[in-house]
Amino acid sequence: MAKRWTRTGWRNKPRVQMPDYDHLETLARVEKKLASYPPLVFAGEVRTLRSRLGDVAKGKSFLLQGGDCAETFAEFNADSLRDTYQVMLQMAVVLTHGAKRPVVKVGRVAGQFAKPRSSPVEVSDGVELPSYRGDIINDIHFDAAARKPNAKRMLQAYTQSAASLNLLRAFSTGGFADIHRVHAWNLGFTNHSAATDRYRRIADRISDALDFMTAAGVNSDNSSVLGSVEFYTSHEALLLEYEEALCRVDSTTGLPVAGSGHLIWIGDRTRSPDGAHVEFCRGVQNPIGLKCGPSIDSDDLIRLADILNPDNEPGRLTLIARFGAGLVAEHLPRLIRKIHSEGRNVVWSCDPMHGNTIKSSTGYKTRPFESVLREVREFFAIHHSEGSYPGGVHIEMTGKDVTECTGGIRAVEEEDLSSRYQTACDPRLNASQALELAFLVAEELESRKGDVRKAG
Ligand code: PEP
Ligand code: CO
Repeated sequence: MAKRWTRTGWRNKPRVQMPDYDHLETLARVEKKLASYPPLVFAGEVRTLRSRLGDVAKGKSFLLQGGDCAETFAEFNADSLRDTYQVMLQMAVVLTHGAKRPVVKVGRVAGQFAKPRSSPVEVSDGVELPSYRGDIINDIHFDAAARKPNAKRMLQAYTQSAASLNLLRAFSTGGFADIHRVHAWNLGFTNHSAATDRYRRIADRISDALDFMTAAGVNSDNSSVLGSVEFYTSHEALLLEYEEALCRVDSTTGLPVAGSGHLIWIGDRTRSPDGAHVEFCRGVQNPIGLKCGPSIDSDDLIRLADILNPDNEPGRLTLIARFGAGLVAEHLPRLIRKIHSEGRNVVWSCDPMHGNTIKSSTGYKTRPFESVLREVREFFAIHHSEGSYPGGVHIEMTGKDVTECTGGIRAVEEEDLSSRYQTACDPRLNASQALELAFLVAEELESRKGDVRKAG
């Protein structure tokens, strides 16, 4: 029998990676305010996403999750949101076309503000300050006052998330995502590349098929699947005061739901089975992601699956593997075998970003695109040999033409990193690298169609 859950129960568990606020009255005031505000997402949507992910767990569809490492207050504008959204639509087209299966689209957006850090302090020119922990917690500016955690920032994060969701919902149902615009989504690219040319050829074929369907009487006005898409939001549930304040009871089921986003995940540094983050997440009905890095123990994984998905429902739990290129063979098989031998239903997704971060010779944190692709290939190959279904990818990306990860068809060299390095945290794939990755994933899915699929 699972232990009783309350939305505040996490407060009695060990917490890591969370700030200590100086002004407790301000914190209490902010929490009260947030608790009185409307939730950002609704329980029915959360249930629908769970069922969509259930299809992914069963090998019937594929999960595409992507967006910024960290959203920021400064970079909040309609163009950035649109550009990232548009590249995700393009990636979904490539995947759907190649793999001939639906793609569940989930943004790292509208709540992805809090960051776990490998060090609590940052040193620059001999000065030591607390690390930047994301705009919802403190300010990136290297200055003692800016780095103090300030609870009021949660209100701005909430407002920005609400405005972002408003625009994303409008894009999804207001005509922007209509499949008849499949060519228009390519137009934002400033330069042509092999990937955009490949995309154009797919778009041509889709347009032909749509012309045929229009002639046969099927169009966006009479078929909503052509005119709109489902787009979901996700973020790491790191700042539990914020999560608790936005937790609501679903009036249909009477069960608690995190109102902060559709899917929430638990980071690689906060996944202790006895810790505060797992305690909060176990009680809400949202689909839950769990980052699995090299240090995860297979018995702990089963303990976590017991806690987070006691009913073993496909779609509730997504395991996001992030080992690093060259390390997948050492860790993924032991986890897949354990999950299979224990009969667990999960979605397996691949985060090829967080295990591949290095420091460039010029001092920038970067990720070689080659390592990203290599980890994806290794993930697919191991699922193939273990007979399980590689259900998704989880990436840090942007629709902008940034120079943060090296490599790609329009090769970004180490010396180029400084030219458009804009991330507040980890390096993201730019639009052309993201599209190139989608082609690789589509090829992998296509070539392995018909593989044996075990549960999970
Ligand atoms: C992230 O997804 O931004 C992140 C910090 O990941 P991880 O917990 O896997 O390191
Ligand atoms: Co990151």
